[in-house]
Amino acid sequence: MVKLGVIYRSLVEQDFRLLEVFVKLLGKFEYVPVEVIASRVKMPPKELDARLRKLTRYKLLVKHPTMNAYRLRFLGLDCVALHRLVRRNVLKALGDRVGVGKESEIYKGIADNGDVVAVKFYRIGRQSFRRVVVTRGYGVTFERGTWVLRSVVAGEREVAALRVLNSSEVPNVPRLYGGALHAVVIEFIEGVELYMVRELADPEGVLEQLIEAIRAAYWRAKIVHGDLSEYNIIVAMSDDKEVPYIIDWPQYVESESPEALRLLERDVRYVVRFFNKRFRLSIDFRDVLEYVLEKPR
Ligand SMILES: Nc1ncnc2c1ncn2[C@@H]1O[C@H](COP(=O)(O)OP(=O)(O)O)[C@@H](O)[C@H]1O
Ligand SMILES: [Mg+2]
Repeated sequence: MVKLGVIYRSLVEQDFRLLEVFVKLLGKFEYVPVEVIASRVKMPPKELDARLRKLTRYKLLVKHPTMNAYRLRFLGLDCVALHRLVRRNVLKALGDRVGVGKESEIYKGIADNGDVVAVKFYRIGRQSFRRVVVTRGYGVTFERGTWVLRSVVAGEREVAALRVLNSSEVPNVPRLYGGALHAVVIEFIEGVELYMVRELADPEGVLEQLIEAIRAAYWRAKIVHGDLSEYNIIVAMSDDKEVPYIIDWPQYVESESPEALRLLERDVRYVVRFFNKRFRLSIDFRDVLEYVLEKPR
């Protein structure tokens, strides 16, 4: 596997200028003809050619099999996003890859203030783009354009969700540090995904925290997660207390949207069902749903 951090450090400003051209043209071309690139970046033709070949060798671009045209790959998009995050003083360093999700890759990183963060790069369509569209309601923008573009949409949506969740002080949601393109920088949660947790000291207490978070998201941030399950919850330990965090928000819907109630019901049902099964509780999800729908004073 190519090391993102190593590749990133081998690039110079001229490479980034070139990659930025590809980003600007994402919605317009799949493969960008070299004449178009040349018209947008001031660079002697020989240098342009050499740089395009370098970026192709590093797997940031791919050349069209027959035409003199290039397409941006995920690795190229990663480098542009990192460059923007560094320039905006969001990120200071990128570490190792720590996880691969359903449609993302997660790296550890260091924020400008020294905090340990998770850097999530979207990889929509890497496995099956059709399933992604069917199972997660991203809306119409998602059914057009390339996977790379859809990943940018997902990143922007997750940033938007976390921003409103943070600013309305919804508990049990990681803090957002910033985002660029398909990359999202979030507080690193040192913990275990709920689906891997066999035992909890206080399962009712953890479920209660989750319910309060779902309720606060619905009423204060005015959004519904829409893909909540034991896979999108990380349980951390804080001063001997078990604290669950709700992650992975790109498919959120607004509380006022027509699908909100159906998705809220599903989120609550999945979580309660998991707690009942895994931790032998017997809670009726309808009672929980009724409570969530009660407007807090
Ligand atoms: N803030 C975070 N802190 C620590 N690990 C995280 C964080 N966000 C995600 N992860 C890890 O990455 C995995 C995938 O993240 P997630 O946001 O659920 O993306 P996906 O859309 O790919 O499912 C999680 O299951 C978790 O292991
Ligand atoms: Mg997930």
